[in-house]
Amino acid sequence: MEQVTLKINGISVTVPKDYTILQAAHDAGIEIPTLCYLKDINEIGACRMCVVEVKGARSMAAACVHPVSEGMEVVTNSPAILKARKTNLELVLSTHERKCLSCVRSGDCELQRLCKEYGVDDETKYAGDNQHYDIDDSAPHMFRDNNKCILCRRCVAACKNNQGVAVIGPNERGQATHIGCAFETPLGETNCVNCGQCITVCPTGALGEKDSTDEVFAAIADPTKHVVVQTAPSVRVA
Ligand code: FES
Repeated sequence: MEQVTLKINGISVTVPKDYTILQAAHDAGIEIPTLCYLKDINEIGACRMCVVEVKGARSMAAACVHPVSEGMEVVTNSPAILKARKTNLELVLSTHERKCLSCVRSGDCELQRLCKEYGVDDETKYAGDNQHYDIDDSAPHMFRDNNKCILCRRCVAACKNNQGVAVIGPNERGQATHIGCAFETPLGETNCVNCGQCITVCPTGALGEKDSTDEVFAAIADPTKHVVVQTAPSVRVA
C-alpha cells in the first residue's frame, strides 16, 4: 500500500494512503474525541465531535471521514477547535433529555464524559421545543428511549452491519427524525434477535437492558412471540 506523510500537531506521521485523519492520529498516539464513529461499521461523519483544522482548507474537517494526503498539516487542539467541539456538544444536548441523575448510564455515558471534558456548564444553552417519544419496552430484553437518543446511528449500524438484521433505522425527517423500526412497529414485534449489540454501542442512555431476565425467559417460552436469542462478535467502538 502506498504511504503518505503528514503532520499532526507538528508531529510527522507516515501512514497508508487510504487512512483517515482519525486513523493517522491514532497511530501517532494523538487522541481525537468521537461520538458517532464506530470503527469499520459506522463512519458517517454525523456528530462532528472529531473536527480538526487542516491547513489550507476553508472549513474544519471531520477527522473520522477526512482522508489523509501527502504533506497535509493537521491541528487537533487549537482554541477554535475546542470551541467548535463544545458548541457541538451544546447543540447535541439541546435535544437530549437531561435526566442524568436517574439515567442508567450516568457515570458510564460517553456524552456526559465529553461534556465534562469540554466544560459544558450550560446544558440548556440551545434548549427549545423538542419532540417527546414514548419509551419502547416491547422487546423482552431491552428498552429504547428516543428522548435520550443523539442520532449517532451507531445502533442502526450495529444491527445492520454487524448483526445483519437491520430492523432499525431513521424514521421521519428534520427535527422529527428518530430511530425506530419501519412503520413505527414496536421492537418486540420485529425480527430483532435480542443480541444486544445496539445497547453495547449506544453512547448515551437511549438504549438499555431490562432489569430482570424473567421477562426474557417468559417471552422465549411463549410460542406466540418471535424471540431468538443470538450473540454476535462484539463491536469495537474505537
Ligand atoms: Fe467524526 Fe462523529 S466521530 S463526525
